[in-house]
Amino acid sequence: MFIFLIAGHETTAHTLCFTFALLALYPDEQEGLYQHIKGVMSSLNGMPAYEDMSRFTQSLAVFYETLRLFPPVMNIPKITAQDTTLTVTNVDGGKTTFPVPSGTAVNIHVPGLHYNPRYWKEPHKFMPERFLGDWPKDAFIPFSQGARACLGRRFFETEGIAILTMLVSKYKIEVKEEPEFAGETFEERYARITAFDQGLTTTPVRVPLVFKRR
Ligand code: HEM
Repeated sequence: MFIFLIAGHETTAHTLCFTFALLALYPDEQEGLYQHIKGVMSSLNGMPAYEDMSRFTQSLAVFYETLRLFPPVMNIPKITAQDTTLTVTNVDGGKTTFPVPSGTAVNIHVPGLHYNPRYWKEPHKFMPERFLGDWPKDAFIPFSQGARACLGRRFFETEGIAILTMLVSKYKIEVKEEPEFAGETFEERYARITAFDQGLTTTPVRVPLVFKRR
């Protein structure tokens, strides 16, 4: 239970951190999110309530896109409970079937699926709008899938949307300008701000951001 308390806390904190970092790196996406939040808020009577959460579709799309790019749990270890087979599609479209005996350690590599161009157009790009229409549900597994999938998913989505929505409604997020990084390209800046270590969960290294009152 202790490990899940840490995991539930870290996964949420680090996802919020990557979300703020990506919004700072992509100001147009941040502006789009802000305008959407402003629109939903103006149609409410006062502060958003629990029942209003589903209306903040853009906030959830931003979260999902962050979770696709930086899944907090990169490897999901499993052990097969019975003999089975795995069929994979090769690059040339052909299929190969592997026998998987009971008791085999199987590691699900989450980024391998999340960055697969077969499912995601321009997979390295931050494009929250890909989660607004129809998207490939089976190719998005930050919370795992099946009977032992994350129990805290709804909790995280509710808590996360509340924090993200309230924060973006009041603050503009920017990357802190530091003289030693003046002149870096967008790619260099992206790599610096989103650098992470693989601890228990995907852990941001250093994310210097400035929150400016709107
Ligand atoms: C961004 C947020 C989160 C992510 C990405 C995440 C991801 C995951 C993943 C990948 C698993 C493993 C599932 C498997 O073995 O197939 C898991 C399990 C679990 N998570 Fe989360 N989690 C998040 C937040 C939370 C929160 C906030 C809580 C609690 C409030 C929580 C509670 C749990 C529990 C209890 C399990 C064990 C489920 C079981 O074994 O039946 N998680 N989570």
